[in-house]
Amino acid sequence: MTLTRSSAERDIGAVERQAFETLASAASRDALESLRVRYLGKKAKLTALLRAMKDLPAEDRPAIGAFVNQAKERVERALEEKLAAVRAEEEAAALAASRVDVTLPGRRRTIGRLSPLTQVRREVTEIFRSMGFSVEEGPEVETEYYNFDALNFPPDHPSRDAQDTLLVDGGYLLRTHTSPVQIRTMERQKPPVRMICPGWVYRADTLDASHSPMFSQVEGLLVDEGVSLGDLFGILNAFAQRFFGERTKTRYRPSFFPFTEPSAEVDVSCMICAGTGKTEAGTCRVCKGTGWKEILGCGMVDPNVFKAVGYDSERYTGFAFGMGIERLAMFKFGVDEIRHFFEGDQRFIAQF
Ligand code: PHE
Repeated sequence: MTLTRSSAERDIGAVERQAFETLASAASRDALESLRVRYLGKKAKLTALLRAMKDLPAEDRPAIGAFVNQAKERVERALEEKLAAVRAEEEAAALAASRVDVTLPGRRRTIGRLSPLTQVRREVTEIFRSMGFSVEEGPEVETEYYNFDALNFPPDHPSRDAQDTLLVDGGYLLRTHTSPVQIRTMERQKPPVRMICPGWVYRADTLDASHSPMFSQVEGLLVDEGVSLGDLFGILNAFAQRFFGERTKTRYRPSFFPFTEPSAEVDVSCMICAGTGKTEAGTCRVCKGTGWKEILGCGMVDPNVFKAVGYDSERYTGFAFGMGIERLAMFKFGVDEIRHFFEGDQRFIAQF
């Protein structure tokens, strides 16, 4: 087929029209790119036409060459314009997708708080520290000797049983109270001793509203010459009034602990109902209408305990006490469920 000027112009015109039609319907960058390859690339139709010019009569070549180049330029320009339009559309779509509604309310940031147990432990510690007590520590994994023997528990005492005490491999146990720290402190130190020990303790109890297999206590011990039951009452009454309020009354009920003699349990007057057992809503929920709440165990140190640590029980006397921190916190804050303390729920903790 021979090429003539007019057939060349027709072909070029047709390819250009075709290019414009395809361009009109191209809507993405990829579509535009393949269009560029098809019409303007090395193997493109317009390029092929340019190459075919060698078959034209020499005098027609410049005119046709210019004609092809103009057509190429027009297609190129249209392509650039379309590309710019598609880019702008894509950008607008991306912006719309990442739009931020500045009128939405912000997210509230919650600020952590000290657990009520930590607050109570610190407050109790501060009260005794101000009365001259040192703060001691001891291991939570204990031996039977420190947890029981040295504290004058008889060999067949029921609490030594695995039913009550959590045992650890290797003949150890999880301490069931903070009293072993009395022994460790006295072994380290000659009288006078005036110490407290806050810490975790463990018992084989099932978790319910008032029991937890892990809870915390504060132990206290004071040993010196001439320490009497009157000193015990004085210190514990002062503590109760500072912790629960000036008008708090105390009541001592005889009790039993292997490591103290005599022993007592201490009740404080209920601060929720002011000791009346009644609130506007009826029977006081916290003291169950009794007007009293048991908060600790105490007593004069048994001479056998002094013997175990090599103290002269003719010369020295002393008293000891122990209280549960969860119990103090439940009473002080009117909480009726021990499990709340261990769940870390912000809605609970934020109230204290
Ligand atoms: N260790 C006792 C308990 O856990 C409390 C206590 C401590 C009693 C010191 C008397 C003296 O129940």
